[in-house]
Amino acid sequence: MSRTDPMKAVSALHAGQAGWAPQSWQRREALQQPRYDDAAELAAAGAQLSRLPPLVTSWEVLALKQAIAEAQQGQRFLLQGGDCAESFADCTSPIISNRLKVLLQMSLVLVHGLKKPVLRVGRFAGQYAKPRSTDTETRDGVTLPSFRGDVVNGPEFTAQARRADPQRLILAHAHSALTMNFVRALIDGGFADLHHPEYWGLAWVEHSPLAAEYREMVTGIGNSLRFMETLAGPIAGFSRVDFFTSHEALLLHYEEALTRQVPRHEGWFNLSTHFPWIGMRTAALDGAHVEYFRGIRNPVAVKVGPSVTPEQLLPLIDVLNPDDEPGRLTLIHRMGNAKIAAALPALLDAVKREGRRVLWVADPMHGNTESTSNGHKTRRFDNIRGELDQAFDIHAAAGTRLGGVHLELTGEDVTECMGGARDLSETDLDRAYKSMVDPRLNYEQSLELAMLIVRKSAGGQG
Ligand code: PEP
Ligand code: CO
Repeated sequence: MSRTDPMKAVSALHAGQAGWAPQSWQRREALQQPRYDDAAELAAAGAQLSRLPPLVTSWEVLALKQAIAEAQQGQRFLLQGGDCAESFADCTSPIISNRLKVLLQMSLVLVHGLKKPVLRVGRFAGQYAKPRSTDTETRDGVTLPSFRGDVVNGPEFTAQARRADPQRLILAHAHSALTMNFVRALIDGGFADLHHPEYWGLAWVEHSPLAAEYREMVTGIGNSLRFMETLAGPIAGFSRVDFFTSHEALLLHYEEALTRQVPRHEGWFNLSTHFPWIGMRTAALDGAHVEYFRGIRNPVAVKVGPSVTPEQLLPLIDVLNPDDEPGRLTLIHRMGNAKIAAALPALLDAVKREGRRVLWVADPMHGNTESTSNGHKTRRFDNIRGELDQAFDIHAAAGTRLGGVHLELTGEDVTECMGGARDLSETDLDRAYKSMVDPRLNYEQSLELAMLIVRKSAGGQG
């Protein structure tokens, strides 16, 4: 079987390894980590962090794993979204509530259109570390460490701000807890206007060539909600376990300190988030991140880029999910609109042929980033939509299932991605470009994408 080689690779990997522990990643090469200049200060912050309460519970983590197992069976669709990077400054009431609201509104569109429950996972309450293409940044002859996200250093271009500061580990935990606390309260309370699509910001619909179809969809959602409320009384707020969090578990000192054992469940849990993922740049089979991830009981995801081969992917699946446990492993492909047709089919075929259980999710954002002539990082809505359309078709042709989407979005009216119903152009980007890292879909573009997903799944023409 084609598995022979990968299996050899896996045995070789295990042979040199004395077993897993929350810190065993330190024996491997850890890419994308900052250089801390004071080991004692780092150790003290790690010790303090490891005494602080966790952000999520093992019960929630296992409930999510069960829900992902159901998504693997086609019974649910995963909607995962949020900022590319959260910042401490954006830990505010309007930003958190608008982001949650757009995710919930998108999920109502998807529930109604796909006729199945949607598993909602935020990319927040911990999304504070960013991989960077270079370790340093040079401006006007001055070279400083790159900004690696608020959990590591500050974005300002000064030596003081760019120093990797261990106190930020504590601050990241605190800001994650503040975010989580507010999200839990909002969800418990329910957003009243979720039940009334007529209150949603839907003026953009009129600018879409699909305006009539969208109006019909929105009316349909409103009618369904009213029908259910007539039958069952007002629908209570989304229940607490109905919303989960995720982040790229990049900064391993932080993740290690929040890796815990709990009284009534075996094993170790990362309790900084429900659903950590490994980014594309840190997914090496023999690297520190894969070592860390193989030992935790959370459901985990891995980003898969266009250069990954079946020979690399299969051993990774073996290491991260040796027992083929349901719900354990999600693969998020992020290929790019131009590359997905060439890159994805072989991976789908290999995983299917080996009978491995994964949830396939499409991230149509990260393979479609480009720079404009005036220096903005942007993404074209047409490329995002194009990659997503192709992803549905390629899965259908391979006999596999696209079980979810992973998006970078915000509830704010930013102008970071071009195109969409209002056809934002390069000059519009100057108006409200706020992201410190990757460009996000704004409120309108996010809802439009949800409607396009429904249209695509219903067999509408792209
Ligand atoms: C991200 O999700 O922000 C990211 C950096 O993605 P990737 O690892 O897929 O490049
Ligand atoms: Co990003």
